[in-house]
Amino acid sequence: MSQNSDRRFAAFRGAHVIITGGVGLIGSALARRLVGLGAEVLLVDSMVAEAGANLANIADISERVRVNIADIRDAAALRHLLPGQDFLFDLAGQTSHLDSMNAPEHDLAVNCTAQLQLLELCRSVVPAVTIVHAGTRQIYGRPRYLPVDEEHPLRPADVNGVNKMAGEAYHLLFHDAYGIDTRSLRLTNVYGPGMRIKDARQNFLGIWLRRALEGAAFEVWGGEQRRELLYIDDAVEAFLCAALSRDTAGLAAAALSSSANFRPTGSASISATSSPTTAASAR
Ligand SMILES: NC(=O)c1ccc[n+]([C@@H]2O[C@H](COP(=O)([O-])OP(=O)(O)OC[C@H]3O[C@@H](n4cnc5c(N)ncnc54)[C@H](O)[C@@H]3O)[C@@H](O)[C@H]2O)c1
Repeated sequence: MSQNSDRRFAAFRGAHVIITGGVGLIGSALARRLVGLGAEVLLVDSMVAEAGANLANIADISERVRVNIADIRDAAALRHLLPGQDFLFDLAGQTSHLDSMNAPEHDLAVNCTAQLQLLELCRSVVPAVTIVHAGTRQIYGRPRYLPVDEEHPLRPADVNGVNKMAGEAYHLLFHDAYGIDTRSLRLTNVYGPGMRIKDARQNFLGIWLRRALEGAAFEVWGGEQRRELLYIDDAVEAFLCAALSRDTAGLAAAALSSSANFRPTGSASISATSSPTTAASAR
């Protein structure tokens, strides 16, 4: 069965879908899959230089999607773009943990305040829209046990984690208080084609992959860390499944795929358990 004739996702055929952060790593892969499924896709992205936006990510589908360069903090722009949308994949975000510590108010504005504003707009303009928010595993902070699950206490280790946690909490609140059909996926380190590899801003794997492609050595600091990796196709699948599952409404789920051990040998020894994406739901 081809991915595009996957009957599980027939509901996307002809559906109007808006993806914020749609020119970035995950947004563009999601757009490609949705176009293949027959959706009418609108990408909204501010194309900030510090993030993963890259028009090369959508070069192969540029004739089949609409792109609107806009900032999610711009309520007037979103008020204009939201009417008629059936699904909203809410991926735009300030993603750098280091930048969030250096410019905490910018992170607050994008990852938290803009989320509240977006939800308020949805409530007034498209109250029946189905939303999937891109949350992050970062909100758990340093793990107290492994694997981290949805029962794990929340203790973000940086400003980005605090603001993503609050942004997610607004989604769950708007479900409970107003019946908005929204849920959040707490993503781990997503990797795959389209990721930013010129530096480590997207996640640490970017710089490793670049060095590997160049045939150069890369440093593994410490080497005792464990990291959860999520391949882009699995992340996209999780977003599509979450959008079509009524059971996930009002919930946050950890999106897990594989785990990796990094040993202090100068190279990475990655042992992927390669279990299918888990999307267990919890509050
Ligand atoms: N990639 C990961 O490992 C990972 C892990 C956890 C959570 N997430 C979350 O997933 C989402 C997508 O991440 P990604 O990896 O695709 O990152 P990305 O940087 O590739 O994509 C984010 C996109 O958002 C856009 N953007 C940033 N600020 C914006 C604004 N104010 N208005 C409009 N667009 C804006 C950027 O231009 C970029 O294209 C983010 O919300 C991120 O927090 C990603």
